[in-house]
Amino acid sequence: MKPVVVSGLKPSGELHIGNYLGMLEAAVALQTSNKYDCFYFIADYHALSQHYNPREKAEEIFTLAVDVLAAGLDPKKSAIFIQSHIPEHANLTWIFNTITSVGKLEGMIEYKEKIEEGQTPNAALFDYPVLMAADILLYKAEHVPVGEDQRQHLEFARDTARTFNKRFGKTFKEPEAILTRALRIMSLDNPQKKMSKSLPKGCLYLSDSPKSIKAKVRAAATDSFREIGYDPEERPGISNLVLIYSEFSGLAIPAIIKKFKGAGYAEFKEALAEILIQKLRPIQQKRLTLLKDRKAVMKILEDGAERAKPIAEKTLLDVKKKIGLI
Ligand code: TYM
Repeated sequence: MKPVVVSGLKPSGELHIGNYLGMLEAAVALQTSNKYDCFYFIADYHALSQHYNPREKAEEIFTLAVDVLAAGLDPKKSAIFIQSHIPEHANLTWIFNTITSVGKLEGMIEYKEKIEEGQTPNAALFDYPVLMAADILLYKAEHVPVGEDQRQHLEFARDTARTFNKRFGKTFKEPEAILTRALRIMSLDNPQKKMSKSLPKGCLYLSDSPKSIKAKVRAAATDSFREIGYDPEERPGISNLVLIYSEFSGLAIPAIIKKFKGAGYAEFKEALAEILIQKLRPIQQKRLTLLKDRKAVMKILEDGAERAKPIAEKTLLDVKKKIGLI
């Protein structure tokens, strides 16, 4: 068996270019290399840890599946499925709960941030990292493509693997995060914060129309320097835009700075919007086709679950035996 790659995305809004550059592009590249067995899933159980409208959730799950397929995840190469279709994710979470200290969960950054943002903490939000460890270890993953915000959760999964192996015998590999260069794409209107669905004004969705792309890029925060430059510490706004330009155009950062020497921010922003419109167009076209073919998308997700299920069952059975269940 090839080394395993696992990653997931939460269906709590449409996919944005932060998800795309921070995780999806790497997920597609790993799948295309044919060197790994890739498992990519829609983390619907995770999404339930945040306030949501049950009437909207099914559509969010479906739309995210469409988005990841349009962005390049390929069911011929990867198992693409919905987390809750494999109950072993939740079963293994329960078992991992028994070896997890409450103190460690209390210290998790994302949990504390969500509470600071005003979210009412439920037990699922608290237990979020344990479910994530189960997602990863269930398939004995070695590599996990994620953005920087998930780094601590990855460390948690590694600790869980180590603790389990120590107590019950070698069972899990310690998974490594695969971080891209665009590990933290910042919000367009507030470059101190990462781009996220919770800040919609600064969030560029893969489905944004050319008009909306132009408006968002034009309104993006920069600084009072006159020249395009790259210095994420001192000049986070323009550096974020240069990085996005570099990622979508394939041009190296110094080449971009040279290309726009003497040009103002307005000219650079026009060019960036054009690149985004061009590069997102094929994804958007594929997206529209898939949105109309619900049956085909659901079939892909069912097939993906069928591929993932035997592996998940085998791991859970082994774990249950090791911990003394009959
Ligand atoms: P989610 O849905 O919030 O984000 C999906 C992926 O996109 C990355 N990302 C970003 N990368 C760069 N810049 C940004 N502004 C940005 N915003 C988001 C995230 O780091 C993530 O990789 N907990 C996960 C879902 C999950 C998971 C897993 C991931 C559940 N189980 C197991 C890996 C393995 C999450 O909330 O992703």
